[in-house]
Amino acid sequence: MTEQPLPGGFVGAAVRVGGTVRKAAPPDAPFVGRLLGFFAERGWPGAPRWLGVDERGRQVLGFVEGDVPGGDAAAPVGDDALAAVARLVRAFHDLTAGSALAGDQEVVCHHDLSPANTVFRAGMPVAFIDWDLAGPGLRVQDVAHVCWQFVPLGPGVAPAEAGRRVRVVARAYGWGDLAVLVDTVLWWQDRCWRGIEAGADAGVPAMVRLREAGVVSRVRAAYEWTGRHRRSLG
Ligand SMILES: Nc1ncnc2c1ncn2[C@@H]1O[C@H](COP(=O)(O)OP(=O)(O)O)[C@@H](O)[C@H]1O
Ligand SMILES: [Mg+2]
Repeated sequence: MTEQPLPGGFVGAAVRVGGTVRKAAPPDAPFVGRLLGFFAERGWPGAPRWLGVDERGRQVLGFVEGDVPGGDAAAPVGDDALAAVARLVRAFHDLTAGSALAGDQEVVCHHDLSPANTVFRAGMPVAFIDWDLAGPGLRVQDVAHVCWQFVPLGPGVAPAEAGRRVRVVARAYGWGDLAVLVDTVLWWQDRCWRGIEAGADAGVPAMVRLREAGVVSRVRAAYEWTGRHRRSLG
C-alpha cells in the first residue's frame, strides 16, 4: 500500500497507509500502547487506536477522520470549540485518575495538546492525536498547555481577550485556581524553549530543525509576553 506523507510534525515523519498512520515510535511505546488500549477498552473515542509496531519499528495507529489544523494560517479556535477542548481533556483526565497508568500522579497527561494535535469535525474537537509524550502528571499541566496553545498566549494577542479565553478554558474544565494555571503556562513555555535549545546544542536533529525554524525565539517571546501580562490573564 502507498505511503502518503502527513503534513505537520517536525518530529515523527508521519505517513498514512490506508486506514492507518505510521510514525516513529514514541520514547515509551509500551506506555503509549497501554494508554491507547485503555481508552479503547473504556470506549473513549477521543484518541486513535493503537495497532502495534510495524516491520520498520514504527508505531501503527488508527487514522482518525476529520481536520487537523496546520500552519500559521489555521483559523483560531472559537469559544465553543475551546470549551469543548477543555471538556475533552477533563474526560480523559477523569478516566485515568486513580488508574495504574497515572502511577503516583493525579492523572495521565497528554503533555502536548495543541490545535495541530487535535482532530476537528464540523469545527468541534473529537480526538487528540500525537500521544508520544503522554505520561503521569498533574491536571493543571494539560490545562495550562491548552491555554498556551489554543487561546493562544503570546505576542500579538490582546491580553484582556486572552484572559477572557483562559477563563473559558478554566470554567469548562472545572479548574479554579487561575494564578496556578498561569504560573504553569510560564513553567511550560520556559522549559519548552530551554529544552529545544539544549537539544539543538547537543545536535539532536529534530531540535536543530525546530531552532532553525525560529521556535526557540518564538517560545521565549511567548514566555516573556505571558510574564508581562500575568495579571490580565489570571
Ligand atoms: N491517528 C491519526 N489520525 C489522523 N491524522 C493523523 C493521525 N496521526 C497523525 N495524523 C496527521 O499527521 C500529522 C503529524 O502527526 P503527529 O502525530 O502530530 O506527529 P508529530 O509528532 O510529527 O507532530 C498530524 O498533524 C495529522 O495531520
Ligand atoms: Mg503533532
